[in-house]
Amino acid sequence: MTSTLIRGRLLSFHREPQSIDDTAAYAYESDGALLLDNGMIKAAGPYSTVKAAAPQDVTEIDHRPHLIMPGFIDTHLHFPQMQVMASYAANLLEWLNTYTFPEECRFVETAHAERIAVHFFDEMVRHGTTTATAYCSVHKASADAFFAESLKRDMCMVAGKVMMDRNAPQGLLDTPQMSYDETRAVIADWHGRGRNHVAITPRFAITSTPEQMEVTKSLVREFPDLHVQTHLSENRDEIAFTCELYPEAKDYTDVYARYGLLGPKSLFGHCIHLSEREADAMSETGSVAVFCPTSNLFLGSGLFPLRALMRRQKPVRVSVASDIGGGTSYSMLKTLDEAYKILQLQGERLNPFDSFYMMTRGNAEALSLVDRIGTLEPGTDADLTVLNMAATPAMALRAEVVNSLADELFLLQTMGDDRAIVETYVAGKPAKSSLGAN
Ligand code: GUN
Ligand code: ZN
Repeated sequence: MTSTLIRGRLLSFHREPQSIDDTAAYAYESDGALLLDNGMIKAAGPYSTVKAAAPQDVTEIDHRPHLIMPGFIDTHLHFPQMQVMASYAANLLEWLNTYTFPEECRFVETAHAERIAVHFFDEMVRHGTTTATAYCSVHKASADAFFAESLKRDMCMVAGKVMMDRNAPQGLLDTPQMSYDETRAVIADWHGRGRNHVAITPRFAITSTPEQMEVTKSLVREFPDLHVQTHLSENRDEIAFTCELYPEAKDYTDVYARYGLLGPKSLFGHCIHLSEREADAMSETGSVAVFCPTSNLFLGSGLFPLRALMRRQKPVRVSVASDIGGGTSYSMLKTLDEAYKILQLQGERLNPFDSFYMMTRGNAEALSLVDRIGTLEPGTDADLTVLNMAATPAMALRAEVVNSLADELFLLQTMGDDRAIVETYVAGKPAKSSLGAN
């Protein structure tokens, strides 16, 4: 296989920026290149240096004047909710019962799951997202369809069969034993195949009996290296109902703590209304709070206290995500645009470097996958997104007066969407321009 040399402006992060002037937090190369070989980044740096060291027969792709970044990472979304997006509901629980649960029932059909999986991965690629952490439905067939499509496209994905055995329609319920057996089967069938990672996925405390939560505890003990994902403290009614169902727990977070679910590979969607005690518990265990801005606004769930969680004496690890289909856009650009506005409403700042750090390296660190994705480091996987700040007439007009990298990033975030993604590379191969050929 011949190698590929990709030329353009390069941007990647070494660490979280401390301020908008923290130039040491990132590497920017105004005429840069990446040498890709066998799905990996072999070299990165100034074009002249990388070109000089490249093989003679290298295929060169020139993306100038566009910006080449690590592929975007989305740390929480629901694969069976593509046809739930844009459903008119007053709040989370109404939205789940009226639209979401009935739609997820359809994923018992393999053909339906397989069809949606193709659309799902097409949208990820179209929007420059190369890794996502996904909930499938309760049906093993949905996880099989998801992982088969991911394997076919050689994408790095984290996903799980949802475990849920109460408070939902019959067609969406397993049992503690079924959820144990099927999660184990999904792990055996898919974990480590290609770039697939299986996550242990109890939907949330409301839809799991204590018996099923015991099963999640056993799975986490048996598979301590796997990710765990669930929902926590999204909506006031949800919190009250959870506390009624688990009266012995100190609070919502304690329900999960009692079953051993807190830890550095655990991702908790939402975490909007945590008490100080709960935030301490999250911090002490290295658990990750996942900020889902478009969903939180759409469902009226609340304003995620990003800065308050980050700057506590015991800081909480955070990541950012679309939460499709509570979320309203597949685009991580649009997701961070809404995150910015949520911080504005709290009198806080989110500078453009913070945003692009979060959707790349920050989310990779939250997933404990930064040795593979989220940067342009040689030796990591060649998942890339190529961005054009002048993708639409309105963006091009605004771009005329952009005169710094910070301005460019902020324009991309505020006005950009899938049209700003010129190309998406998955494991070294151009994937966006090949859509439709699948
Ligand atoms: N809580 C439990 N399930 C869900 C879901 O599908 N979406 C959101 N936003 N919250 C949930
Ligand atoms: Zn969710």
